[in-house]
Amino acid sequence: MTGGEAGRLELTREEMRQAGYRVVDAIVEHLATLGGQRVGTKAEAGAARAWEGRAAPEKPTPFAAVLERVVGEVLPNTMHVNHPRFFAYVPGPGNFVGAMADALVSGYNVFAGTWISGSGPELLEREVVNWLRDWCGFPQSAGGLFVSGGSLANLTALAAAREARLGTETDKAVVYLSDQAHSSLAKGLRILGFAPHQLAAIETDADFRMPVEALAERIRADRERGLRPFCTIASAGTTNTGAVDDMAAIAGLCRSEGLWMHVDGAYGAAAVLTGRGKRLLAGIELADSLSFDPHKWLFQPFECGCVLVREGRLLEEAFRVTPEYLKDTQARRAEWNYADQGIQLTRGFRALKLWMSIETFGLAAFRAAIERGFEMAETAAERMVRTGRWELATPARMGIFCFRRVGGDDAFHLRMVEEMVADGTALATSTVLRGRTVLRMCTINPRTTVEDIERTVERLEEMAARLE
Ligand SMILES: Cc1ncc(COP(=O)(O)O)c(C=O)c1O
Repeated sequence: MTGGEAGRLELTREEMRQAGYRVVDAIVEHLATLGGQRVGTKAEAGAARAWEGRAAPEKPTPFAAVLERVVGEVLPNTMHVNHPRFFAYVPGPGNFVGAMADALVSGYNVFAGTWISGSGPELLEREVVNWLRDWCGFPQSAGGLFVSGGSLANLTALAAAREARLGTETDKAVVYLSDQAHSSLAKGLRILGFAPHQLAAIETDADFRMPVEALAERIRADRERGLRPFCTIASAGTTNTGAVDDMAAIAGLCRSEGLWMHVDGAYGAAAVLTGRGKRLLAGIELADSLSFDPHKWLFQPFECGCVLVREGRLLEEAFRVTPEYLKDTQARRAEWNYADQGIQLTRGFRALKLWMSIETFGLAAFRAAIERGFEMAETAAERMVRTGRWELATPARMGIFCFRRVGGDDAFHLRMVEEMVADGTALATSTVLRGRTVLRMCTINPRTTVEDIERTVERLEEMAARLE
């Protein structure tokens, strides 16, 4: 490309169009053929050599050639988390409208941190935050903002909780969470300066839920020891098994004990949009703060997380710092700066992708897509058990189930994952429950069909038979 004057990093209109069309073509081709592709590929050991020791090029390369290298050599070496047979971890079944929203945000390079620089985006983000607030039954006083994902949502919420309840007096504070809570919570608490002994991991019950009596007992014992119970974290859908803690009971306990209740709904909160999800997540509306990741079960491209806080003003109390060079960003009445409510000053406009997708498809389509995730897990679990060779380690719930080969040991299940990665038809991954390795499927991709499930079960059966 030759467009523009050297040193201006510019393309001509026509060059920009051509580059853009090529990128859109690459995305469309990828998405339209995804189900027929391998679920993903891991680069060969030794592939690093091809990328090592190469200095940044001084000379230009035509955009088409640069793109070809990315599409041909880089992107194929990924696990396609939006593939209809990608059942590992938490899939990322984004959607095309969301991807186009990201392109728009990037093209305009929107600064969504302050009212003075981005009042339009601030207004739209508030509208989307209010949608999430209303779906989850939070009061009008609630506030929140978009962040990169669940890890940052958890960190942001816990920082607000610490500021509101402890200030700088954190020494004797204790945070309660279950042994199934996501690792990002321990990471966030570590970043916030809590020592490992300040995290009380409550052993879960047979259903992998936090037993509220044990929690109450631990809080009582800690008070007797002169400690300062301050926050309980409940899970609205654990990553391992989709277990949902009894949020109504935990909220009751937190209220009577004066504890902050944070709910990690990064994975599961979106299920409130369906009838059964709403029933399963009863009590979520009582949380003081909530993590809710649209880049999981609300089908947005990465990165798209959201944190809600019951008393929205507490976010500003935790995060607002105004130096002299930002004095003219100070919000007037009826204006606000999302930069004052979270960690980032310069922040992108993540709310737009969720807003544009919901506007385009309509919320009813999202409700149906989430419901499908529940159903696919039930179908897959039923098909696995029907073979007579697999047994369930946990039932299908919240779009997740865990399973084991009858008579298979831990090593067998780990080998199965290696086989699936090498084979490329479908991917489920392993986890450990009560010391035993199991396989786990998460079926939240709305493009997964019953045929995809059947093909996966068949393939797993063939692989298992080979390994036995
Ligand atoms: C329950 C739960 N919480 C938090 C996270 C972390 O979210 P992220 O990876 O978006 O930071 C995850 C990720 O899978 C999760 O499942």
